[in-house]
This record gives sequence, C-alpha cells and structure tokens, in this order.
Amino acid sequence: MKLWGGRFKKETNSSVEEFGASVFFDYKLATEDIQGSIAHAKMLCKAKVLTEAEKEKIIAGLESIAQEIKEGTFEFKVELEDVHMNIEKRLSEKIGSLGGKLHTARSRNDQVALDMHLFMKKENRQLVALLQDLQETLLLLAEKYFDVIFPGYTHLQRAQPVLFSHHLLAYFWMFQRDRERLNEQYKRCDLMPLGAGALAGTTFSIDREELASELGFSSLYENSMDAVSDRDYILEFLAGTSITMMHLSRLSEEIILWSSQEFGFIELDDSFTTGSSIMPQKKNPDVAELVRGKTGRVYGHLISLLTVLKGLPLAYNKDLQEDKEGLFDSLDTVKKSLSIFSAMLKTMQVNKENMRKAVSKDFSAATDLADYLVKEAKIPFREAHEVVGKMVAYCLDKEKYLADLTIEEMHQFHSSFNPSVEKLLQPEGVVNARKSRGGTAPVAVREQLQRAKEALRR
Ligand code: ARG
Repeated sequence: MKLWGGRFKKETNSSVEEFGASVFFDYKLATEDIQGSIAHAKMLCKAKVLTEAEKEKIIAGLESIAQEIKEGTFEFKVELEDVHMNIEKRLSEKIGSLGGKLHTARSRNDQVALDMHLFMKKENRQLVALLQDLQETLLLLAEKYFDVIFPGYTHLQRAQPVLFSHHLLAYFWMFQRDRERLNEQYKRCDLMPLGAGALAGTTFSIDREELASELGFSSLYENSMDAVSDRDYILEFLAGTSITMMHLSRLSEEIILWSSQEFGFIELDDSFTTGSSIMPQKKNPDVAELVRGKTGRVYGHLISLLTVLKGLPLAYNKDLQEDKEGLFDSLDTVKKSLSIFSAMLKTMQVNKENMRKAVSKDFSAATDLADYLVKEAKIPFREAHEVVGKMVAYCLDKEKYLADLTIEEMHQFHSSFNPSVEKLLQPEGVVNARKSRGGTAPVAVREQLQRAKEALRR
C-alpha cells in the first residue's frame, strides 16, 4: 500500500517502481531524515497539531528506527521508493495510525531539501578537516626538506632553481583556497528549507525560525519555491571538489614525473606502489595515477548536475532526485583521494643528489647573469638579455655551462663582469638572491612557512 495510493486504481508497474526509486542511494540520508522529523514533530506539537503525548510517542518511535538502522536490522524496501517513505511507513508499523500525523505541514520536497542541507553541513566539515590534514603534511615536508634545491620549470623546461619546500608550499596555498571555498559553501548549506511544504508554504502555524534554531541553522530560505528547488549549494560543492581534484591531479602528475627514472627526484614507498604482472622491474605510482584519473568523474558530476538543472521550471521536479548519486560519489572520491595522498607523501623518499645534479648542469642562472649586468653596467635589461643569450649560445657550441666560463671568456661578451659573478652562478646563489616576498630565497620561504602555519589555524 503506497503512502500516496488514494487516487490510483492500478498498481505501479514494477519497472517504474524500480526506475523511480532512490532508496538504493538516499538511505545515506536516514540519520538526517530522522533528525529533521524529530524537530518537525516538536514543532507540530507547538502548533497544536500533536499533543504532548503524541509527540513523545512519535519521537520514541523515530529513535527506535534510528537504532534499527544503526544495528543494520532496518529493511529498506524498493516499493517504498525513498528513505523518507521507508522511515514513515516503519513509524506507522511501530506506533499505528499516529505515525500518519508526522507528515502534516510537510512535503517530501522540503523534507529532502532539509536532509540534504543537514548532510552537506556534516560532510563539509569532514572535508575541511581532511584538507587541513593534507596541508599539515605539506608543511611537515617543507620543513623536513628545507635545504633541498631542485629545478623550477616553465614549459617543463628547466627555468630557475627553487627550494623544494617552495614548490611544496605552492600546493599548500592551493588547498588553503579550497578550504576557504568550502567555508564559503558552508554558508549556503546553512539555510533551513523546512516549512516550504510542497512549494508554496503551509497552512499550519509553524514557526520556521524556531525550527531553524532547533536544527542548528543560522538562517532560513525566504522563499518557499526557492527552498524546494535550490540545488546551488550542491553545485558549489561539486565545483569546489572539482577544483580540489584538479589540484590533487596536478600534484599527482608531478609525483609521477619525479618518480620516473628520467627525473629520479623521489622514490615512493613500496607500500604505496604496485608491480607489474609481466615486467619484474616495475614499480608503478598507481595511487597518483588513480587520483589523476578519478578527477574525471568528479568533473563529470558537476557537469551532470548543471545540465539537470538548466531547463527545470520551478518548483520541484523529479529530475532533482538526480542530484544525489553524483554528489555521493564525488564525496567518496575526494575524501579517499585526500587521505591516501597525505599518507603517500609522508612516506616518500627525496633524492637530494639527483635534484642537486639537475640544477648544477644547466643554464638556470642565465637570468641572474642578465640581472647582474643591469646592476653592474647599468644597461637596459633587454640588452643584458641579448648579451647573456649570446653567452648561452657560445656555451652550447663549446659544450660548457655558464659556471665553466673564465672571466676572460666572459669579457668577450661584456667588460663589466668581475670575479664576484662566480658565486652568483651557483644554484644557491640564484636561490638566495630571490628574497622578494613570496620568493624562493630561504629567508623568504621561512617567512612563508610562518604565514602558512598561521593560515592553517584559521
Ligand atoms: N526521492 C525524492 C528526491 O530525492 C524525494 C522528493 C520526492 N518528491 C516528490 N514530489 N516526488 O528528490
């Protein structure tokens, strides 16, 4: 017997039942559904729809259902379509026809909206904590490897040497912005939709403000139609998780490159890699590859929901039920990715020697040589660039590096070079010279680390 069966003469076709049911996935909202129903029952009592005794009986019934769900003895039924009707039906089984009073002044439309808001508030906090963990790991590594210099790249060509810590901290700040985005998104979850009814409000004299504070919301939807149709807060979340996955994916790509034999900058711990079933020598960075790969499905869920929403007239349409599976999957994916990444980074080994080699045998001090001429010879930077460009071409011809040039050789290109230039050409010199705020010199990175620690506490 359907909860809405009154006007129907025929049974629902079983494939329609199966096709329309959401209980396979929205059972995840059971805790929030019961929490919302308890608050709603209290409000119905204040509105004189329920007596004190009826309210108590309903709440006790709901609490025992919560217990059944916790113990795994609750049986979710497809015929009952969704989590809401499964719980309501069970309530009536337990306390008789009184259970049928609970849905007064409420529709599944505002009910599901409420459940989703409560659920998202909880998940939002969990995700923020996971991001914080990963940021802490990055800080830890930045301190541990503070003295390590390695190549900074543009166009994946060696550009200028940087502190490895500086590179890691770049990711710290990306995750900091992700956390800020989530904190912003939280405000949109923190709006109470209950009391909107199906779409137009309710004829019962409920106090929505009191409901909001009972349920821990800071504010409520001012428009009942908006309350039941809004899925912006989910979109924002999916956009936020997409950006987080994109950040993780970029870091994955670097981990994969760095751990290749061509780079040899890091070695992942055996416990975070896998082997090949045919090539005995292989050690593959599966975790990083999978995170990079899973980014695709998280983007997909954002595009799916945007597409679901784009043509929807107000107010509720069944299409909106499609907001859940993608969200649940994104949540699962980003949570697992964040925690496994933190663990993987903590156990990796850094090959300082290979990093060092990569910055000694290259031309990454070329900009500094040009800067030197600007300062010493007071010539325009463009001219200095041209001079050093010619020096690089000369070196390439002679199979040398800039640091190998004698002062005499340098004088063929400009008379202002003097022996003090030598120190400048070492990777340490190049790094130390970039003291500007946010630059890679150890003094600047120390300051950055300090600011990062402060940011983490915010
Ligand atoms: N399972 C539904 C959903 O998730 C609940 C709301 C159903 N409302 C309705 N008018 N059929 O969207």
